[in-house]
Amino acid sequence: MMQVTVCGGGNGAHALVSLIGARQDWTVNVYAPYGDEAERWRKAVAVRGGVAAMTSDGTLVGQPARISADPAKVVPGSQLVLLALPAFAHEIMLRDIALHLGDNVWIGALPARGGFDWCVEDVLSSGELTSAPLPLCPSALFGLQTLPWACRLTRYGQEVEILGTKAVIDLATQPTAAAGDITTLLGEPLGVRLEPVASFLSLTLANTGQLIHPGIMYGLFHDWDGRPYDEAPFFYQGVDAEIAGVLQQLSDEVQAVRAELERRYPDLDLSAVRPLDEWVRRSYAGDIADPSSLQSCFNTNRSYAGLRAPIRNTSDGLMPDFRARYLAEDVPCGLAVTRGIAELADVETPMMDEVITWAQERVEKEYLVDGRLQGRDVAATRAPQRYGFETLNDLGATNEFAA
Ligand code: NAI
Repeated sequence: MMQVTVCGGGNGAHALVSLIGARQDWTVNVYAPYGDEAERWRKAVAVRGGVAAMTSDGTLVGQPARISADPAKVVPGSQLVLLALPAFAHEIMLRDIALHLGDNVWIGALPARGGFDWCVEDVLSSGELTSAPLPLCPSALFGLQTLPWACRLTRYGQEVEILGTKAVIDLATQPTAAAGDITTLLGEPLGVRLEPVASFLSLTLANTGQLIHPGIMYGLFHDWDGRPYDEAPFFYQGVDAEIAGVLQQLSDEVQAVRAELERRYPDLDLSAVRPLDEWVRRSYAGDIADPSSLQSCFNTNRSYAGLRAPIRNTSDGLMPDFRARYLAEDVPCGLAVTRGIAELADVETPMMDEVITWAQERVEKEYLVDGRLQGRDVAATRAPQRYGFETLNDLGATNEFAA
């Protein structure tokens, strides 16, 4: 029997629990320490008898064995630990669970976002955790390029709607030799084709959430006049020609970073760092009615249909919610990471700079100062600068750079 612990209590965690909890040969525990989520989830599961994933092909119900806010009750004995939550919470989760991990554990993030491998290494090697004799080295670490599904919770602890499933998802592993085993183990339960890539660095640069989410937020709201909205604008269907232009420029800048790294390190395999339009067509094959342009790939994508921009209801009316994960996750654990690598590679990134500068003002953080990633909040990002990497060669410890 395979014991799995799912860490998280949001959309992705529910989808995961319903799909893998439906398997007879897997026991699925949930670690949900955020607020009162564990208690709410426990009560809801008791009522419904499991978590149901509603898909276009029918309903799958998975039964979690234990749900707790105490890692000691759900982590020990697990062979597989899956982080299914925004990347800004990875570090907190890893610190919570580190002391409870067994010897032969595989730790994976769905999705990894940027710098996941550096984050894990930083947490598991930190002095504060090593006072006891700990099994702090996972036997395999892996990350998915994105979440396999577009999904939204419809009833907490009971139902999640799966709006679409990606056709194929890239997977990074450490060691790379573990890729075959992980693909075999997880491909079928997750319902996607997993395709191994060369390194976590590929995944960091190929993180398209870092482009799509802050790029569309910037596009929709940088000219906002401060007046309340009558209704939340569509997010992906709201991509117009101008916003598609921003996304294209962001994607071009990632490609410029890739090209410079490949020029300096000819043995480095970054073939998985695809331009955004190529990624979206590949990931959503079959879901896009009109794949002719980047804009139409977003506007006519079935998986994205109807999803709205994050908006909060205030006493002044409906206002953009700049605290949403589209900025809170995708800037510090995404765009800032790639911007940090660009800085080490001396690649100019004017659109990334514009989006980060706009975003950091909205969220009252400071990442970029005087054109360099040196603001006070870099310490809360996963940029290489946060981990003290001063040259591209420093990234090599975990990313197989050919120095
Ligand atoms: P979510 O917004 O539902 O996750 C929120 C959950 O994260 C909370 O309910 C809580 O359980 C946990 N959390 C938040 N802050 C925490 C903290 N400080 N400490 C501990 N736990 C905390 O996120 P969702 O939708 O599940 O997404 C998970 C990941 O998948 C994210 O990286 C997201 O960008 C990505 N993704 C999600 C898609 C979707 O359709 N939901 C599609 C593509 C990617």
